[in-house]
Amino acid sequence: MKKIEFFDTILRDGEQQAGINFSIKEKVMIAKQLEKWGITVIEAGFPAASPDSFEAVKAISEAMTTTAVTALARCRKADIDKAVEAISSAKHPQLHVFIATSDIHLKHKLKMTKEDVLATIDEHVRYACEKVKCVEFSPEDATRSDRDFLLQAVQTAVDAGASYINIPDTVGYTTPREFGDIFEYLIANVTSEHEVIFSPHCHDDLGMAVANSLAAIKAGAGRVEGTINGLGERAGNAALEEVATALHIRKDFYGVDIPIIFSETINTSQLVSRLAGVSVPPNKAVVGLNAFAHESGIHQDGVLKNPETYEIISPELVGATGTKLPLGKLSGRHALTEKLKELGISYEEGEMDELFERFKILADKRQLVTDNDIRALVAGRSIKNGAGFKLDNVQFDNIKAGRRAILTFKTDDDFFTKEAIGKGSVDAMFKAIDLAFETQVELGSYHVESVTGRVDAQAQARVTVKNQATGTIFSGKGSDYDVLIASASAYMNAHLRILKEDKQKRDQHDL
Ligand code: KIV
Ligand code: ZN
Repeated sequence: MKKIEFFDTILRDGEQQAGINFSIKEKVMIAKQLEKWGITVIEAGFPAASPDSFEAVKAISEAMTTTAVTALARCRKADIDKAVEAISSAKHPQLHVFIATSDIHLKHKLKMTKEDVLATIDEHVRYACEKVKCVEFSPEDATRSDRDFLLQAVQTAVDAGASYINIPDTVGYTTPREFGDIFEYLIANVTSEHEVIFSPHCHDDLGMAVANSLAAIKAGAGRVEGTINGLGERAGNAALEEVATALHIRKDFYGVDIPIIFSETINTSQLVSRLAGVSVPPNKAVVGLNAFAHESGIHQDGVLKNPETYEIISPELVGATGTKLPLGKLSGRHALTEKLKELGISYEEGEMDELFERFKILADKRQLVTDNDIRALVAGRSIKNGAGFKLDNVQFDNIKAGRRAILTFKTDDDFFTKEAIGKGSVDAMFKAIDLAFETQVELGSYHVESVTGRVDAQAQARVTVKNQATGTIFSGKGSDYDVLIASASAYMNAHLRILKEDKQKRDQHDL
């Protein structure tokens, strides 16, 4: 059976989603989990874009053993050199070179003629192939490019040595049938003496990224690009867990083999959600909380008689149930440590005391602590490690000017308080937190939801804030039984990310 390679770009294209800023350590954690999930290639970043991206690609290259690492470069020698340097320690290095080919990009963005573009492709793909054996070329905005010119661009890249041709639907414009046709056309007409593998790279602006990717595979693609949970620029990229599951469940139709370790699917999705600060919608295919919940009586009756009546994917396949270690109030530190390992959650040394303390409080209120409770517990962990203090107490009172919040913060050996007046409790509390962090931010969005939907559920809060000094948007996530504490911890989590950004900038400056 034909093998399909899986290419994940969450650390490059995924990070282009507003509000997502992974630290290098978080990127390495995600890359390691992707390797565990079976990903063939990780696009670790765009090294010429920032020193941070360069360092992240380097760190990921060192950390991967079986998974290949690629880095993005424009058709510029300086970009290619930077990318080559960043991936130099990868066991399986690859390069990804791109330039736009649509008329609209040529005229307004590149201000180049078609002849210029072809010459540039030839020069830079050739240059890249001299440095790295495995080079992918992408004609950006391929689906809005003139078909003959697209073929010329692809043929030029192949003649210059590219062994992978990636066809990006950059603006999420194409449809499954049209995209399938493009693949059939290119595969039939590109000539080469070496093997050339084609891949789709789809964006979800019209909600067709997964369907378009599958159509490309049906038409002969041998690699697929996307991101976990479909994160990415604007409406996001094709959700790789959906593509993988569709190929697996409909093997009868697609007839391909994939490298994915399905039991790691939920862990991978949850890790990405937690580190990105972006919740998975409950109705999201494959990894949503309700993806396997049967609500109506008729469905429940059918599933009890035989799950196949209404279930095409078994929850066990993607690691959604069948927990090996149920936790309860009698569980000790060892059981919690094992559970965190089972869920693929890593933590800093010294964090365990606090996690265990929070787990005990939770377990006292519950007969059974679910995997999602544990994930929420970890998401809401103290931020003391990064900021040097954690929230200890919150009090409110009404005064003439509005609602006053008095927040007490605990440092290693002391306490301090900050108070602020706001229109309501949340507003006042957020203002007091701004004072504690001494950073001016603007609140973008604020959402609260329950983790399990039960009355005794933990509340999970999400915020996005803009750092007024830099204009960068950050997201934060927190959870607690108390909605206000969950909100405070989400807001502090976003502040912590700003702090990290500032620290990274200072470190770069010092270098
Ligand atoms: O969407 C796009 O066109 C891209 C390219 C850089 C491959 O991400
Ligand atoms: Zn893209």
